[in-house]
Amino acid sequence: MIIVKDLVKIYKSKDKDICALDGVCLEIPKGQIFGVIGLSGAGKSSLVRCISSIEKPTSGEILIGGKNISKLSEKKLRTARKNIGMVFQHFNLLMNRTVFENIAFPLEIHHISRSEITSRVDELLELVGLTDKKNSYPATLSGGQKQRVGIARSLAIRPEILICDEATSALDPLTTHSILSLLKEINKKIQLTMLVITHEMSVIKDICERVAVMESGKIIEEGNVTDVFVKPKTALAKSFFEDKNLLLSHDIYSGILTGNSYVVKVNFIGDNSVDPYISNAIKKFDVDIAILAGNIQQVAGTIIGTLIIEIRGSGEKIKDTTSYFTSEGLLMEVVANDI
Ligand SMILES: Nc1ncnc2c1ncn2[C@@H]1O[C@H](COP(=O)(O)OP(=O)(O)OP(=O)(O)O)[C@@H](O)[C@H]1O
Ligand SMILES: [Mg+2]
Repeated sequence: MIIVKDLVKIYKSKDKDICALDGVCLEIPKGQIFGVIGLSGAGKSSLVRCISSIEKPTSGEILIGGKNISKLSEKKLRTARKNIGMVFQHFNLLMNRTVFENIAFPLEIHHISRSEITSRVDELLELVGLTDKKNSYPATLSGGQKQRVGIARSLAIRPEILICDEATSALDPLTTHSILSLLKEINKKIQLTMLVITHEMSVIKDICERVAVMESGKIIEEGNVTDVFVKPKTALAKSFFEDKNLLLSHDIYSGILTGNSYVVKVNFIGDNSVDPYISNAIKKFDVDIAILAGNIQQVAGTIIGTLIIEIRGSGEKIKDTTSYFTSEGLLMEVVANDI
C-alpha cells in the first residue's frame, strides 16, 4: 500500500524555483494497478523519484506499507528501497553483462548466495519468457525483450511495489501490448502493487484499475478508469480519454439535424452493452433512431460501447426516449438538438 500526503517538490536553481509537485495526495491499496497520466513536465517522474526515495521531497509524507519513508535514516531508507522495483523507459540495462547477469545484478548487490541467484534468475527468466536468451547480451535483443529483462531485474529482490515510468513509451503498439499483458499477469500472480506512469491513454485503458490525471504538479482528477473514461470531468482528461474517432462536436451534428431531433451520445457499460435498448425505444416511443457513429472497446476489463445516435420525433417522445435510457442506467449526453 502506498499513501502520499500533500507532497511538494521544489527544484531550486539560481534563476528560479520550479515547483514540480504541488500538494499531491494519493492512496494505492495493496495489489492495485494505479495509473498516473499527464503531459510532459506535469511532474510524473518527480512523483516517482520521491516515492522511490531517489529524490527528497520538499515537504509532505510518503507511507509505504505503513512506514513513513520521509522520516527514515539513510540506512533504513536503503532497506526500504529494496521494497520498490523500478522499470524505466530506456531499460537501463548493463550492456557488457548477459541477460542472466543483468537480472542477477541486484541479487549480487544484496549478497545473495550463488546457488540462490541461479535458481531465482531462472525462475524470473521463465516468468518473462526469456529462458532461451539467458546468455545473450542486451545489444542483440529487441526493445520488447530488453524491457522483459528490465522487468525481471526489477522483480529480482521480490519488491512489494513496482513502479513503471513510461515503461512502454519506447515500444511499438504490439510490443507495448505484450509488455502490458506481462505486467498484468505478474500483478495477478504475486499481488504486486503497481504504479504506472504514462502519457498514453491506451496504457491506462489496458491495465489500470484507477487513474489520476496530473497537470502542473497537481492531481486534477482521479477515479476508476471506466468512470473517468466515460465521464471525464476536466478538459485534460477529456483530451486523453475522448475517442477521437467519434466526432463529438456540436457544430458537426447541428449541421445535419433533420428537424425535431436530438443527437445524443449513449454509453453501454458492462452487462448493459448487450440489451436491445435502441429497438426497445423505437417500439415503445414511436421514434426513429439513426446511428451516426459508434464503437465498442474494452476499458479496464469492462466492455464499453459508445453510440452517437439521432433520435427523431416529437419533443415529448424524444424526452421519453432519453428518460428511458437514463432510467435503464445508460450514460447519456446530448451532443446537439434542434428543438
Ligand atoms: N532535477 C531537476 N532540476 C530542476 N528542474 C527539474 C528537475 N527535474 C524535473 N524538473 C522540472 O520539474 C517539472 C516536472 O518534471 P518531471 O520530469 O517530473 O515531468 P514529467 O511529467 O515526468 O515529464 P515527461 O513526461 O516529459 O517525462 C518540469 O518543469 C521539469 O523541468
Ligand atoms: Mg517523466
